[in-house]
Amino acid sequence: MKDQNQDPNKRSDNETDETLTNRQGHPVTNNQHVRTVGDRGPTTLENYDFLEKISHFDRERIPERVVHARGAGAHGYFESYGTYGDEPISKYTRAKVFTEKGKQTPVFVRFSSVIHGGHSPETLRDPRGFAVKFYTEDGNWDLVGNNLKIFFIRDPLKFPDLVHAFKPDPVTNVQDGERIFDFISQTPEAMHMITFLFSPWGIPANYRMMQGSGVNTYKWVNEEGNAVLVKYHWEPKQGIKNLTQKEAEAIQAKNFNHATLDLYEAIEDGDYPEWELYVQIMSDDAHPELDFDPLDPTKLWYKDQFPWVPVGRMVLNKNPENYFAEVEQAAFGTGVLVDGLDFSDDKLLQGRTFSYSDTQRYRVGANYLQLPINAPKKRVATNQRDGQMEYHVDIGPKQNPHVNYEPSLLNGLKEAKQDGQDHTPYVEGELQRASIDRQNDYGQAGETYRRLSDWERDDLILNLVNTLAPCHEDIQKQMIDHFSQCDPEYGRRVKEGLEKQKGADTHRQPQGGADGDAAMHAAEALGH
Ligand code: HEM
Repeated sequence: MKDQNQDPNKRSDNETDETLTNRQGHPVTNNQHVRTVGDRGPTTLENYDFLEKISHFDRERIPERVVHARGAGAHGYFESYGTYGDEPISKYTRAKVFTEKGKQTPVFVRFSSVIHGGHSPETLRDPRGFAVKFYTEDGNWDLVGNNLKIFFIRDPLKFPDLVHAFKPDPVTNVQDGERIFDFISQTPEAMHMITFLFSPWGIPANYRMMQGSGVNTYKWVNEEGNAVLVKYHWEPKQGIKNLTQKEAEAIQAKNFNHATLDLYEAIEDGDYPEWELYVQIMSDDAHPELDFDPLDPTKLWYKDQFPWVPVGRMVLNKNPENYFAEVEQAAFGTGVLVDGLDFSDDKLLQGRTFSYSDTQRYRVGANYLQLPINAPKKRVATNQRDGQMEYHVDIGPKQNPHVNYEPSLLNGLKEAKQDGQDHTPYVEGELQRASIDRQNDYGQAGETYRRLSDWERDDLILNLVNTLAPCHEDIQKQMIDHFSQCDPEYGRRVKEGLEKQKGADTHRQPQGGADGDAAMHAAEALGH
Protein backbone atom coordinates (compact mmCIF):
# COMPACT_ATOMS: atom_id res chain seq x y z
CA MET A 1 0.00 0.00 0.00
CA LYS A 2 1.24 3.52 -0.81
CA ASP A 3 2.30 5.45 2.27
CA GLN A 4 0.06 8.50 2.07
CA ASN A 5 2.37 10.51 4.31
CA GLN A 6 4.95 10.46 1.50
CA ASP A 7 2.60 12.20 -0.96
CA PRO A 8 3.75 15.84 -1.03
CA ASN A 9 0.44 17.02 -2.50
CA LYS A 10 -1.72 15.37 0.12
CA ARG A 11 -3.79 17.86 2.08
CA SER A 12 -6.77 17.97 4.35
CA ASP A 13 -10.24 18.66 3.00
CA ASN A 14 -10.04 22.32 4.10
CA GLU A 15 -6.94 23.07 2.04
CA THR A 16 -6.57 24.24 -1.56
CA ASP A 17 -3.42 24.89 -3.61
CA GLU A 18 -3.46 28.48 -2.33
CA THR A 19 -3.65 27.63 1.35
CA LEU A 20 -1.03 29.33 3.55
CA THR A 21 0.84 26.91 5.81
CA ASN A 22 3.64 27.24 8.31
CA ARG A 23 6.91 25.40 7.80
CA GLN A 24 5.59 22.39 9.71
CA GLY A 25 2.93 22.04 7.01
CA HIS A 26 0.14 23.15 9.33
CA PRO A 27 -2.58 25.12 7.49
CA VAL A 28 -2.76 28.65 8.92
CA THR A 29 -6.38 29.43 9.73
CA ASN A 30 -5.87 32.92 11.16
CA ASN A 31 -2.99 35.08 9.98
CA GLN A 32 -4.48 38.35 11.33
CA HIS A 33 -4.48 37.95 15.10
CA VAL A 34 -2.23 36.48 17.76
CA ARG A 35 -3.91 34.31 20.39
CA THR A 36 -4.85 36.32 23.47
CA VAL A 37 -6.84 36.00 26.65
CA GLY A 38 -9.91 37.90 25.57
CA ASP A 39 -9.75 40.35 22.67
CA ARG A 40 -7.65 42.85 24.71
CA GLY A 41 -4.88 40.41 25.72
CA PRO A 42 -2.52 39.48 27.29
CA THR A 43 -0.91 37.36 24.59
CA THR A 44 -0.21 33.72 25.36
CA LEU A 45 3.23 32.25 24.83
CA GLU A 46 2.22 28.96 23.22
CA ASN A 47 1.20 30.86 20.06
CA TYR A 48 3.27 28.59 17.78
CA ASP A 49 2.29 30.19 14.43
CA PHE A 50 3.15 33.64 15.71
CA LEU A 51 6.41 32.52 17.33
CA GLU A 52 7.51 30.74 14.17
CA LYS A 53 6.64 33.72 11.97
CA ILE A 54 8.29 36.37 14.15
CA SER A 55 11.37 34.35 15.08
CA HIS A 56 12.04 33.56 11.42
CA PHE A 57 11.62 37.25 10.65
CA ASP A 58 14.08 38.06 13.45
CA ARG A 59 16.66 36.00 11.59
CA GLU A 60 15.99 37.27 8.04
CA ARG A 61 19.31 39.07 7.83
CA ILE A 62 22.63 37.33 7.64
CA PRO A 63 25.82 39.34 8.20
CA GLU A 64 26.55 41.61 5.26
CA ARG A 65 29.71 41.02 3.30
CA VAL A 66 32.42 42.91 5.21
CA VAL A 67 33.32 44.53 1.89
CA HIS A 68 31.29 44.61 -1.36
CA ALA A 69 27.98 44.57 0.58
CA ARG A 70 25.96 46.43 -2.06
CA GLY A 71 25.50 44.39 -5.22
CA ALA A 72 23.36 43.17 -8.08
CA GLY A 73 23.54 39.86 -9.93
CA ALA A 74 22.46 38.08 -13.09
CA HIS A 75 22.69 34.68 -14.76
CA GLY A 76 24.01 33.98 -18.24
CA TYR A 77 26.58 31.97 -20.15
CA PHE A 78 30.18 32.10 -21.28
CA GLU A 79 31.07 30.95 -24.79
CA SER A 80 34.61 29.91 -25.55
CA TYR A 81 36.42 30.75 -28.79
CA GLY A 82 38.78 27.75 -28.40
CA THR A 83 41.79 29.74 -29.62
CA TYR A 84 44.46 32.08 -28.33
CA GLY A 85 45.14 34.30 -31.35
CA ASP A 86 46.15 31.98 -34.20
CA GLU A 87 46.88 29.07 -31.90
CA PRO A 88 44.66 26.50 -30.23
CA ILE A 89 44.22 27.67 -26.65
CA SER A 90 45.13 24.16 -25.44
CA LYS A 91 48.76 25.14 -26.12
CA TYR A 92 48.48 27.21 -22.92
CA THR A 93 45.66 25.74 -20.83
CA ARG A 94 43.83 22.46 -20.62
CA ALA A 95 40.85 24.07 -18.78
CA LYS A 96 37.79 22.64 -20.53
CA VAL A 97 35.90 25.91 -20.14
CA PHE A 98 38.28 27.32 -22.80
CA THR A 99 39.46 24.50 -25.05
CA GLU A 100 36.37 23.70 -27.13
CA LYS A 101 35.24 26.32 -29.66
CA GLY A 102 31.62 27.38 -29.15
CA LYS A 103 31.23 25.60 -25.82
CA GLN A 104 28.76 27.35 -23.51
CA THR A 105 29.20 27.30 -19.74
CA PRO A 106 26.52 28.72 -17.41
CA VAL A 107 27.63 31.66 -15.26
CA PHE A 108 26.35 33.79 -12.41
CA VAL A 109 27.78 37.30 -12.05
CA ARG A 110 27.63 39.66 -9.08
CA PHE A 111 28.57 43.33 -9.50
CA SER A 112 29.11 45.43 -6.38
CA SER A 113 30.50 48.54 -4.77
CA VAL A 114 32.99 48.05 -1.96
CA ILE A 115 32.93 50.21 1.11
CA HIS A 116 29.43 51.03 2.29
CA GLY A 117 26.48 48.88 3.40
CA GLY A 118 23.87 46.84 1.59
CA HIS A 119 21.60 49.73 0.56
CA SER A 120 24.19 52.45 0.04
CA PRO A 121 24.03 54.68 -3.05
CA GLU A 122 25.41 53.20 -6.25
CA THR A 123 26.87 56.54 -7.29
CA LEU A 124 29.72 56.58 -4.77
CA ARG A 125 33.38 56.83 -5.67
CA ASP A 126 34.51 53.29 -5.08
CA PRO A 127 35.97 50.39 -7.02
CA ARG A 128 33.24 48.11 -8.40
CA GLY A 129 33.32 44.34 -7.93
CA PHE A 130 32.93 42.08 -10.97
CA ALA A 131 32.69 38.48 -9.72
CA VAL A 132 31.91 35.63 -12.12
CA LYS A 133 31.07 32.05 -11.16
CA PHE A 134 31.50 29.60 -14.05
CA TYR A 135 29.60 26.33 -13.50
CA THR A 136 32.03 24.22 -15.59
CA GLU A 137 31.92 20.50 -16.27
CA ASP A 138 34.94 20.14 -13.98
CA GLY A 139 33.22 22.00 -11.13
CA ASN A 140 33.09 25.71 -10.35
CA TRP A 141 35.58 28.39 -11.31
CA ASP A 142 35.25 31.84 -9.72
CA LEU A 143 36.95 34.83 -11.31
CA VAL A 144 36.61 37.46 -8.56
CA GLY A 145 37.60 40.77 -10.10
CA ASN A 146 37.04 44.52 -10.00
CA ASN A 147 36.30 47.10 -12.69
CA LEU A 148 39.76 48.68 -12.27
CA LYS A 149 42.74 46.63 -13.39
CA ILE A 150 45.02 47.25 -10.42
CA PHE A 151 44.76 47.43 -6.63
CA PHE A 152 45.80 49.71 -3.75
CA ILE A 153 48.25 47.34 -2.04
CA ARG A 154 50.38 44.33 -2.84
CA ASP A 155 50.58 42.65 0.58
CA PRO A 156 47.48 41.02 2.11
CA LEU A 157 48.59 41.94 5.64
CA LYS A 158 47.60 45.53 4.83
CA PHE A 159 44.05 44.73 3.65
CA PRO A 160 42.20 45.20 6.99
CA ASP A 161 43.98 48.57 7.52
CA LEU A 162 43.16 49.71 3.99
CA VAL A 163 39.50 48.83 4.44
CA HIS A 164 39.31 50.39 7.93
CA ALA A 165 40.70 53.67 6.57
CA PHE A 166 38.03 53.80 3.84
CA LYS A 167 35.12 52.58 6.01
CA PRO A 168 33.24 55.06 8.21
CA ASP A 169 35.06 56.44 11.26
CA PRO A 170 34.48 54.09 14.23
CA VAL A 171 33.39 57.05 16.39
CA THR A 172 31.21 59.13 14.05
CA ASN A 173 30.18 56.38 11.62
CA VAL A 174 30.93 58.79 8.75
CA GLN A 175 33.46 58.21 5.97
CA ASP A 176 36.26 60.73 6.32
CA GLY A 177 38.74 61.76 3.62
CA GLU A 178 41.32 62.60 6.28
CA ARG A 179 41.37 59.01 7.56
CA ILE A 180 41.61 57.74 3.96
CA PHE A 181 44.54 59.99 3.08
CA ASP A 182 46.22 59.49 6.45
CA PHE A 183 46.62 55.85 5.42
CA ILE A 184 47.18 56.43 1.70
CA SER A 185 49.86 59.11 2.26
CA GLN A 186 51.96 56.41 3.89
CA THR A 187 51.21 53.79 1.25
CA PRO A 188 53.04 54.90 -1.89
CA GLU A 189 52.06 51.78 -3.85
CA ALA A 190 48.45 53.07 -3.74
CA MET A 191 49.19 56.12 -5.96
CA HIS A 192 48.32 54.29 -9.16
CA MET A 193 44.95 53.11 -7.83
CA ILE A 194 44.21 56.53 -6.29
CA THR A 195 44.83 58.14 -9.68
CA PHE A 196 42.19 55.91 -11.26
CA LEU A 197 39.81 56.11 -8.32
CA PHE A 198 39.64 59.90 -8.01
CA SER A 199 39.27 60.31 -11.77
CA PRO A 200 35.88 59.53 -13.39
CA TRP A 201 37.06 55.90 -13.57
CA GLY A 202 36.15 55.77 -9.86
CA ILE A 203 32.43 56.17 -10.67
CA PRO A 204 31.33 53.87 -13.52
CA ALA A 205 28.00 55.09 -14.99
CA ASN A 206 26.40 51.67 -14.40
CA TYR A 207 27.37 47.99 -14.24
CA ARG A 208 26.70 47.24 -17.93
CA MET A 209 29.16 49.85 -19.18
CA MET A 210 32.19 49.01 -17.11
CA GLN A 211 35.18 46.79 -17.62
CA GLY A 212 36.20 43.94 -15.35
CA SER A 213 39.59 42.55 -14.46
CA GLY A 214 40.94 39.65 -12.43
CA VAL A 215 43.63 42.15 -11.23
CA ASN A 216 45.87 39.46 -9.73
CA THR A 217 48.21 37.35 -11.84
CA TYR A 218 47.11 33.75 -12.28
CA LYS A 219 48.55 30.80 -14.22
CA TRP A 220 47.35 28.67 -17.06
CA VAL A 221 48.62 25.07 -17.17
CA ASN A 222 48.66 22.87 -20.28
CA GLU A 223 48.51 19.09 -20.75
CA GLU A 224 52.29 18.77 -20.19
CA GLY A 225 52.10 20.64 -16.88
CA ASN A 226 53.79 23.76 -18.32
CA ALA A 227 52.51 27.11 -17.05
CA VAL A 228 52.29 30.71 -18.24
CA LEU A 229 51.34 33.78 -16.19
CA VAL A 230 48.00 35.31 -17.17
CA LYS A 231 45.79 38.32 -16.48
CA TYR A 232 42.05 38.38 -17.29
CA HIS A 233 40.05 41.37 -18.55
CA TRP A 234 36.34 41.79 -19.38
CA GLU A 235 35.48 44.38 -22.04
CA PRO A 236 31.83 45.53 -22.28
CA LYS A 237 30.24 45.38 -25.74
CA GLN A 238 27.99 48.24 -24.54
CA GLY A 239 31.01 50.59 -24.39
CA ILE A 240 32.54 52.19 -21.28
CA LYS A 241 30.94 55.14 -19.46
CA ASN A 242 32.15 56.91 -16.33
CA LEU A 243 30.77 59.88 -14.41
CA THR A 244 32.19 63.13 -13.14
CA GLN A 245 31.48 63.82 -9.48
CA LYS A 246 28.83 66.35 -10.45
CA GLU A 247 27.04 63.95 -12.76
CA ALA A 248 27.03 61.29 -10.05
CA GLU A 249 25.59 63.73 -7.54
CA ALA A 250 22.77 64.64 -9.94
CA ILE A 251 21.84 60.97 -10.32
CA GLN A 252 22.15 60.29 -6.59
CA ALA A 253 19.77 63.13 -5.77
CA LYS A 254 17.01 61.26 -7.58
CA ASN A 255 17.92 57.58 -7.51
CA PHE A 256 20.47 55.77 -5.42
CA ASN A 257 19.74 52.35 -6.95
CA HIS A 258 20.35 53.32 -10.56
CA ALA A 259 22.95 50.65 -11.39
CA THR A 260 20.85 47.75 -10.06
CA LEU A 261 17.79 49.01 -11.93
CA ASP A 262 19.75 49.59 -15.13
CA LEU A 263 20.99 45.98 -15.13
CA TYR A 264 17.62 44.50 -14.14
CA GLU A 265 15.63 46.47 -16.70
CA ALA A 266 18.04 45.82 -19.57
CA ILE A 267 17.75 42.07 -18.98
CA GLU A 268 13.95 42.22 -18.56
CA ASP A 269 13.79 44.12 -21.89
CA GLY A 270 15.86 41.45 -23.65
CA ASP A 271 18.75 43.89 -24.12
CA TYR A 272 21.28 41.39 -22.80
CA PRO A 273 24.62 42.87 -21.74
CA GLU A 274 27.70 41.19 -23.13
CA TRP A 275 31.41 41.24 -22.35
CA GLU A 276 34.35 39.78 -24.20
CA LEU A 277 37.04 38.06 -22.11
CA TYR A 278 40.62 39.01 -22.97
CA VAL A 279 43.71 37.27 -21.63
CA GLN A 280 47.28 38.56 -21.47
CA ILE A 281 50.13 36.09 -21.21
CA MET A 282 53.70 36.30 -19.88
CA SER A 283 56.16 33.44 -19.59
CA ASP A 284 56.31 32.01 -16.06
CA ASP A 285 59.38 33.73 -14.66
CA ALA A 286 60.41 36.88 -12.80
CA HIS A 287 60.99 38.98 -15.97
CA PRO A 288 64.05 40.95 -14.79
CA GLU A 289 63.85 43.01 -18.02
CA LEU A 290 60.68 44.76 -16.75
CA ASP A 291 60.74 47.68 -14.30
CA PHE A 292 58.00 45.97 -12.28
CA ASP A 293 57.33 42.49 -10.97
CA PRO A 294 54.72 40.51 -12.93
CA LEU A 295 53.27 39.40 -9.59
CA ASP A 296 52.64 43.00 -8.44
CA PRO A 297 48.88 43.77 -8.51
CA THR A 298 49.51 47.54 -8.47
CA LYS A 299 50.82 47.33 -12.05
CA LEU A 300 49.29 47.15 -15.51
CA TRP A 301 50.75 44.92 -18.19
CA TYR A 302 50.71 47.38 -21.07
CA LYS A 303 48.84 46.21 -24.14
CA ASP A 304 51.60 47.03 -26.61
CA GLN A 305 53.97 44.64 -24.80
CA PHE A 306 51.43 42.02 -23.72
CA PRO A 307 48.53 41.99 -26.18
CA TRP A 308 44.96 41.48 -25.08
CA VAL A 309 43.75 38.34 -26.84
CA PRO A 310 40.02 37.51 -26.86
CA VAL A 311 39.23 33.98 -25.65
CA GLY A 312 35.44 34.06 -25.27
CA ARG A 313 32.35 36.13 -24.58
CA MET A 314 29.80 36.31 -21.78
CA VAL A 315 26.10 37.17 -22.09
CA LEU A 316 23.82 37.91 -19.12
CA ASN A 317 20.26 36.94 -20.01
CA LYS A 318 18.36 36.10 -16.82
CA ASN A 319 17.57 38.07 -13.70
CA PRO A 320 17.58 36.38 -10.30
CA GLU A 321 14.17 35.21 -9.11
CA ASN A 322 15.03 35.86 -5.49
CA TYR A 323 17.61 38.45 -4.52
CA PHE A 324 18.47 36.94 -1.16
CA ALA A 325 18.78 33.31 -2.27
CA GLU A 326 20.84 34.05 -5.35
CA VAL A 327 22.67 37.37 -4.90
CA GLU A 328 23.05 37.79 -1.14
CA GLN A 329 23.97 34.16 -0.46
CA ALA A 330 26.29 33.87 -3.48
CA ALA A 331 29.82 33.08 -2.37
CA PHE A 332 32.79 33.71 -4.68
CA GLY A 333 36.43 33.04 -3.90
CA THR A 334 39.82 33.19 -5.57
CA GLY A 335 40.61 29.63 -4.43
CA VAL A 336 37.86 28.23 -6.63
CA LEU A 337 39.86 27.11 -9.70
CA VAL A 338 39.51 24.15 -12.06
CA ASP A 339 42.05 21.87 -13.71
CA GLY A 340 44.20 23.89 -16.14
CA LEU A 341 44.00 27.10 -14.05
CA ASP A 342 46.36 27.78 -11.15
CA PHE A 343 47.55 30.38 -8.65
CA SER A 344 50.63 32.46 -9.15
CA ASP A 345 52.88 33.41 -6.23
CA ASP A 346 51.18 36.84 -6.04
CA LYS A 347 50.99 37.32 -2.25
CA LEU A 348 47.83 39.40 -2.39
CA LEU A 349 46.11 36.60 -4.32
CA GLN A 350 47.22 34.02 -1.79
CA GLY A 351 45.98 36.16 1.12
CA ARG A 352 42.63 36.67 -0.62
CA THR A 353 42.29 32.96 -1.16
CA PHE A 354 42.17 32.27 2.59
CA SER A 355 39.85 35.19 3.30
CA TYR A 356 36.89 34.41 1.00
CA SER A 357 35.89 30.93 2.16
CA ASP A 358 36.74 31.88 5.75
CA THR A 359 34.29 34.81 5.74
CA GLN A 360 31.65 32.76 3.88
CA ARG A 361 31.65 30.02 6.53
CA TYR A 362 30.88 32.81 9.00
CA ARG A 363 28.57 34.89 6.79
CA VAL A 364 26.50 32.14 5.18
CA GLY A 365 27.40 29.02 7.18
CA ALA A 366 29.54 25.89 7.08
CA ASN A 367 27.38 24.29 4.38
CA TYR A 368 27.30 27.35 2.10
CA LEU A 369 28.41 25.24 -0.85
CA GLN A 370 25.21 23.20 -0.72
CA LEU A 371 23.05 26.22 -1.57
CA PRO A 372 21.86 26.05 -5.19
CA ILE A 373 23.61 29.32 -6.21
CA ASN A 374 26.97 28.06 -4.93
CA ALA A 375 26.72 24.33 -5.69
CA PRO A 376 28.32 23.14 -8.93
CA LYS A 377 25.93 21.97 -11.66
CA LYS A 378 27.53 18.52 -11.66
CA ARG A 379 27.64 15.59 -9.25
CA VAL A 380 29.18 16.21 -5.85
CA ALA A 381 30.32 13.26 -3.77
CA THR A 382 32.27 13.99 -0.59
CA ASN A 383 32.92 12.51 2.82
CA GLN A 384 32.05 15.83 4.46
CA ARG A 385 29.11 15.40 6.80
CA ASP A 386 26.96 17.38 9.21
CA GLY A 387 27.38 20.96 10.34
CA GLN A 388 24.83 23.71 10.70
CA MET A 389 22.17 23.77 7.97
CA GLU A 390 23.31 20.62 6.20
CA TYR A 391 20.67 20.38 3.47
CA HIS A 392 21.44 16.95 2.08
CA VAL A 393 24.20 14.35 2.30
CA ASP A 394 26.82 14.64 -0.47
CA ILE A 395 26.75 10.89 -0.95
CA GLY A 396 27.90 9.23 -4.19
CA PRO A 397 25.24 7.15 -6.04
CA LYS A 398 27.08 3.88 -5.30
CA GLN A 399 28.68 4.96 -2.05
CA ASN A 400 28.19 2.72 0.98
CA PRO A 401 26.42 5.09 3.42
CA HIS A 402 28.43 3.62 6.30
CA VAL A 403 31.70 4.66 4.71
CA ASN A 404 32.28 8.40 5.04
CA TYR A 405 36.06 8.09 4.93
CA GLU A 406 38.72 7.30 2.32
CA PRO A 407 40.46 4.91 1.59
CA SER A 408 38.12 1.97 2.05
CA LEU A 409 37.59 -1.50 0.55
CA LEU A 410 33.85 -1.33 1.35
CA ASN A 411 32.47 0.76 -1.55
CA GLY A 412 33.68 4.13 -0.40
CA LEU A 413 34.54 7.03 -2.74
CA LYS A 414 37.76 6.75 -4.77
CA GLU A 415 40.26 9.39 -5.94
CA ALA A 416 39.84 10.66 -9.51
CA LYS A 417 42.39 9.98 -12.24
CA GLN A 418 44.66 12.94 -12.90
CA ASP A 419 44.15 14.81 -16.21
CA GLY A 420 47.48 15.84 -17.73
CA GLN A 421 50.76 16.40 -15.92
CA ASP A 422 50.93 18.24 -12.61
CA HIS A 423 52.44 21.72 -12.67
CA THR A 424 55.23 21.47 -10.09
CA PRO A 425 57.05 24.80 -9.74
CA TYR A 426 60.29 24.64 -7.74
CA VAL A 427 60.31 27.09 -4.82
CA GLU A 428 63.17 28.04 -2.52
CA GLY A 429 64.19 31.10 -0.54
CA GLU A 430 64.80 32.51 2.91
CA LEU A 431 61.72 32.84 5.05
CA GLN A 432 61.31 36.58 5.53
CA ARG A 433 58.95 39.55 5.77
CA ALA A 434 59.92 41.80 2.89
CA SER A 435 58.54 43.75 -0.02
CA ILE A 436 59.23 42.71 -3.60
CA ASP A 437 62.31 44.33 -5.16
CA ARG A 438 60.95 46.33 -8.07
CA GLN A 439 58.36 48.52 -6.36
CA ASN A 440 58.37 51.42 -8.82
CA ASP A 441 55.37 52.99 -7.09
CA TYR A 442 55.19 56.15 -9.20
CA GLY A 443 56.12 55.25 -12.81
CA GLN A 444 52.82 53.76 -13.97
CA ALA A 445 50.77 56.16 -11.82
CA GLY A 446 52.37 59.08 -13.70
CA GLU A 447 51.78 57.34 -17.03
CA THR A 448 48.10 56.82 -16.18
CA TYR A 449 47.83 60.50 -15.21
CA ARG A 450 49.24 61.50 -18.61
CA ARG A 451 46.98 59.04 -20.50
CA LEU A 452 43.76 60.43 -19.01
CA SER A 453 41.85 62.77 -21.28
CA ASP A 454 41.66 66.45 -20.29
CA TRP A 455 38.18 66.28 -18.72
CA GLU A 456 39.19 63.19 -16.74
CA ARG A 457 42.38 64.89 -15.48
CA ASP A 458 40.44 68.03 -14.52
CA ASP A 459 37.95 65.96 -12.56
CA LEU A 460 40.77 63.99 -10.88
CA ILE A 461 42.46 67.17 -9.65
CA LEU A 462 39.17 68.68 -8.48
CA ASN A 463 38.16 65.54 -6.55
CA LEU A 464 41.59 65.21 -4.94
CA VAL A 465 41.68 68.87 -3.95
CA ASN A 466 38.17 68.78 -2.49
CA THR A 467 38.95 65.68 -0.47
CA LEU A 468 42.41 66.77 0.67
CA ALA A 469 41.42 70.36 1.55
CA PRO A 470 40.07 69.52 5.03
CA CYS A 471 42.98 67.14 5.80
CA HIS A 472 45.86 67.85 8.17
CA GLU A 473 48.64 69.83 6.49
CA ASP A 474 51.19 67.03 6.96
CA ILE A 475 48.93 64.70 5.00
CA GLN A 476 48.48 67.29 2.23
CA LYS A 477 52.25 67.80 1.96
CA GLN A 478 52.92 64.08 1.81
CA MET A 479 50.30 63.61 -0.91
CA ILE A 480 51.65 66.52 -3.00
CA ASP A 481 55.07 64.93 -2.73
CA HIS A 482 53.75 61.57 -3.95
CA PHE A 483 51.82 63.12 -6.85
CA SER A 484 54.90 65.17 -7.86
CA GLN A 485 56.95 62.01 -8.03
CA CYS A 486 54.28 60.48 -10.31
CA ASP A 487 54.38 63.55 -12.57
CA PRO A 488 55.57 67.08 -11.66
CA GLU A 489 52.43 68.61 -13.23
CA TYR A 490 50.20 66.29 -11.21
CA GLY A 491 51.77 67.45 -7.92
CA ARG A 492 51.76 71.09 -8.99
CA ARG A 493 48.07 71.11 -9.92
CA VAL A 494 47.01 69.51 -6.62
CA LYS A 495 49.24 71.96 -4.71
CA GLU A 496 47.80 74.97 -6.52
CA GLY A 497 44.26 73.71 -6.01
CA LEU A 498 44.86 73.32 -2.29
CA GLU A 499 46.40 76.79 -2.01
CA LYS A 500 43.33 78.28 -3.68
CA GLN A 501 41.03 76.45 -1.28
CA LYS A 502 42.91 77.65 1.83
CA GLY A 503 40.58 79.68 3.96
CA ALA A 504 37.55 78.54 2.00
CA ASP A 505 34.81 76.71 3.90
CA THR A 506 35.64 73.06 3.36
CA HIS A 507 33.39 70.34 4.68
CA ARG A 508 34.95 67.08 5.65
CA GLN A 509 33.80 64.79 2.91
CA PRO A 510 35.71 62.25 0.88
CA GLN A 511 34.33 63.17 -2.52
CA GLY A 512 33.63 66.86 -2.91
CA GLY A 513 31.60 68.60 -5.60
CA ALA A 514 32.98 69.07 -9.04
CA ASP A 515 32.24 71.37 -11.94
CA GLY A 516 31.80 68.88 -14.71
CA ASP A 517 29.50 69.12 -17.65
CA ALA A 518 26.09 67.61 -17.32
CA ALA A 519 26.20 64.82 -19.88
CA MET A 520 27.68 61.42 -19.14
CA HIS A 521 31.08 60.90 -20.67
CA ALA A 522 31.99 57.95 -22.80
CA ALA A 523 35.49 56.74 -22.05
CA GLU A 524 38.20 55.15 -24.11
CA ALA A 525 40.02 52.22 -22.56
CA LEU A 526 43.13 54.35 -21.86
CA GLY A 527 45.16 52.11 -24.13
CA HIS A 528 45.91 49.71 -21.25
C1 HEM B 1 34.64 40.42 -1.51
C2 HEM B 1 38.68 39.96 1.06
C3 HEM B 1 41.25 42.01 -2.48
C4 HEM B 1 37.36 41.68 -5.30
C5 HEM B 1 35.51 40.20 -0.47
C6 HEM B 1 35.13 39.68 0.80
C7 HEM B 1 36.26 39.55 1.52
C8 HEM B 1 37.36 39.98 0.70
C9 HEM B 1 36.40 39.02 2.94
C10 HEM B 1 33.71 39.34 1.24
C11 HEM B 1 33.35 38.00 0.65
C12 HEM B 1 32.00 37.48 1.07
O1 HEM B 1 31.50 37.86 2.12
O2 HEM B 1 31.47 36.63 0.32
C13 HEM B 1 39.72 40.45 0.31
C14 HEM B 1 41.11 40.47 0.73
C15 HEM B 1 41.83 41.07 -0.26
C16 HEM B 1 40.90 41.42 -1.30
C17 HEM B 1 41.62 39.90 2.05
C18 HEM B 1 43.30 41.35 -0.35
C19 HEM B 1 44.18 40.80 0.45
C20 HEM B 1 40.43 42.07 -3.56
C21 HEM B 1 40.85 42.40 -4.89
C22 HEM B 1 39.75 42.31 -5.67
C23 HEM B 1 38.63 41.91 -4.85
C24 HEM B 1 42.29 42.73 -5.32
C25 HEM B 1 39.66 42.51 -7.15
C26 HEM B 1 40.36 41.81 -7.98
C27 HEM B 1 36.30 41.32 -4.51
C28 HEM B 1 34.95 41.18 -4.99
C29 HEM B 1 34.16 40.83 -3.89
C30 HEM B 1 35.05 40.75 -2.76
C31 HEM B 1 34.46 41.39 -6.41
C32 HEM B 1 32.65 40.62 -3.89
C33 HEM B 1 32.31 39.21 -4.32
C34 HEM B 1 30.82 39.05 -4.36
O3 HEM B 1 30.19 39.71 -5.21
O4 HEM B 1 30.26 38.30 -3.54
N1 HEM B 1 36.87 40.38 -0.53
N2 HEM B 1 39.63 41.03 -0.92
N3 HEM B 1 39.08 41.78 -3.58
N4 HEM B 1 36.33 41.04 -3.18
FE1 HEM B 1 37.96 41.01 -2.06
